[in-house]
Amino acid sequence: MRKKQGFRWNHMTMGTCYYPEHWDKALWQEDLRRMKTAGISMIRVAEFAWSKVEREEGVFDYTFFDEFLDLCQREEMKVIFGTPTATPPAWLTEKYPEVLNAREDGVLYRHGGRRHYNYNSEKYLELSARIVEKIAAHYGKHPAIIGWQIDNELNCETSEFYSEADSLAFREFLKEKYHTLSALNEAWGTVFWNQTYTAWKQIYVPRPVLNQGYNPHMHLDYFRFISESTVHFCQMQADIIRKYKKEADFITTNGIFWNLDNHRMMDECLDVYTYDSYPSFAFGLNCDPQKSDDLNDRHWSKKLTEVRSVCPHFGIMEQQSGANGWTTRMEGPAPRPGQLTLWAMQSVAHGADYISFFRWRTCTVGTEIYWHGILDYDNRDNRKLAEVKDFYKKLKTLDEVCGAEYTAAFGVLKDYDNCWDTNVDVWHKRVDQASDEEIFAAAQLYHTPYNVIYLQENTTPEDLLAYPLLIYPHPVLMTEKRAGLLRKYVEQGGMLVIGCRSGYKQENGKCVMFPQPGLLQELTGSDVIDFTFTSPAEPPVFAEWDGRKIDMPLFNDILRPLEGACVLASYTDSYYKGEAALIEKKTGKGRALHFGSTFSRSNMEMLLRYAGVIRPFDDLLEAPEEVEIVQRVKNENRYLFVLNYMPAAKKINLKKQMRLLYDGTLHTGEVILKPFETAVYKVL
Ligand code: GAL
Repeated sequence: MRKKQGFRWNHMTMGTCYYPEHWDKALWQEDLRRMKTAGISMIRVAEFAWSKVEREEGVFDYTFFDEFLDLCQREEMKVIFGTPTATPPAWLTEKYPEVLNAREDGVLYRHGGRRHYNYNSEKYLELSARIVEKIAAHYGKHPAIIGWQIDNELNCETSEFYSEADSLAFREFLKEKYHTLSALNEAWGTVFWNQTYTAWKQIYVPRPVLNQGYNPHMHLDYFRFISESTVHFCQMQADIIRKYKKEADFITTNGIFWNLDNHRMMDECLDVYTYDSYPSFAFGLNCDPQKSDDLNDRHWSKKLTEVRSVCPHFGIMEQQSGANGWTTRMEGPAPRPGQLTLWAMQSVAHGADYISFFRWRTCTVGTEIYWHGILDYDNRDNRKLAEVKDFYKKLKTLDEVCGAEYTAAFGVLKDYDNCWDTNVDVWHKRVDQASDEEIFAAAQLYHTPYNVIYLQENTTPEDLLAYPLLIYPHPVLMTEKRAGLLRKYVEQGGMLVIGCRSGYKQENGKCVMFPQPGLLQELTGSDVIDFTFTSPAEPPVFAEWDGRKIDMPLFNDILRPLEGACVLASYTDSYYKGEAALIEKKTGKGRALHFGSTFSRSNMEMLLRYAGVIRPFDDLLEAPEEVEIVQRVKNENRYLFVLNYMPAAKKINLKKQMRLLYDGTLHTGEVILKPFETAVYKVL
């Protein structure tokens, strides 16, 4: 069982990101008042403002934020205060270059961007701890503050670290894990290509090697090490803040990034998680929305599903309000009228009870002059501000939805070991990504919502039994413990489906010398007698299941049933025509299925139907594929979010009487949603 999140919003709340250091003080009061008029009652500040407090080494001056926070207090604006460690000052990086992160070839990232530090430099840890301590001690009891944000987007910009300090710390991490070099050599299979280490000092974080011939087992430990370093850095700050903050104030961080066990960071360091949602990345340069099969901006629902997995009742620290872009990278169009609300409602539908728009006003200087906020440079009221005000009116009508649970019809299992191993496995990445995208697409198009569950050390069968169907798409790395957990889930009535490429590696990413799906074989009753990528030189491969053809794209496990198992579908193509493609075995009250391919939106339809979980809202409403349906439930009340992502009107059909929360009106039968329109209904 995971730890319960320590903080939840009691009311639907709206905020924005504000940078007092970017503006003339003369603007502050008017800004805060205009925010309040729009419905904004919380702001996030200070996350890049180290020099405003420590302009010179060891000289601390609190007057800037004292003045600003006192004003916030007078204007009744609540504040989330950020620790400034994402942007160390110039004096610091100049005097202590060892704090800098490096490229893989060892070239240091220099001052000027952000997140150019490393997590393992003793100096950076010391100076970060000091600034956080000074800030927390000074501002911790300020009445305007209600929460703390640690750093900014840990592991964004880069999630790889190659400084000298990282190599030193990596060695310590490995010593603790393996104790002896011979154990490490064995775990990493260093006998291959004569990589055998005879002294700890020969080991570094990955360095450039010819033709990218990296050792994958070392890389897997390297990602585990980065995650450990990041959590440690976050924990260090959280521990300091906890000493000084007011009891009720929360600690959070924002965004979800790579090479990081976000679940562990949430459970060990934070009270609540917040995310930064920018759906118009989907319309940036090089994207062709006409051709896209990843559902464009609706794809952000996939990211929000990941956030919900980390923290079911989350907040959005940065919700897109204007066009995306830096002077140096990307270009994203401004949200169309209605789209700003659509994207914010998308976040609320998926579990956010706090929406904070990035940013109050577009910056007039620096690399982010095109990352537009609510207001433009001219500071006049505009259509975006009008839409934020309108969104707030809608949000307030949803107050009773605050804290409601997202309803999932099935679960998708993941785990960090497999994610990180896949990162450096070109063979498997394609397989894994294809299924990940297509399961999401199927869930969206067939209105069959799902949750993602990351298997953790403390996951119990009860956690899993909340879902009648669990798909663990391609668990390549398998351990006895995980196999045991899955067995219990099945025995107690669950339906588990695994795809191709399961169970052929052990925990270090080394291949096992027994038949696939390895440790899962007894549960699935399947034996992989052969396997192959589908050949681009042959026609697509299908299988026949219950008289219907289903596609078996990209990769095929050719299966044989073992005792107690039965064949549900067989291949109809290629050299393995007639061989088993889908096998099922019952164990206890449940069953496990081995599906010999990657998942696609069409084969998922058969699977969801077979499991009896498809289209759970069919008795309530009908909607076209282009419309997302989400349900949140609280105290037996059911709330349906209906989101039209299209620039065209869409028809839906309400099969029961429902109340539109935005204005309290009652509806049944046909309803037309305007372009980008959203609706939230309470089922009566
Ligand atoms: C976010 C970040 C913000 C701002 C924004 C636009 O990722 O947290 O500080 O930079 O992107 O680039």
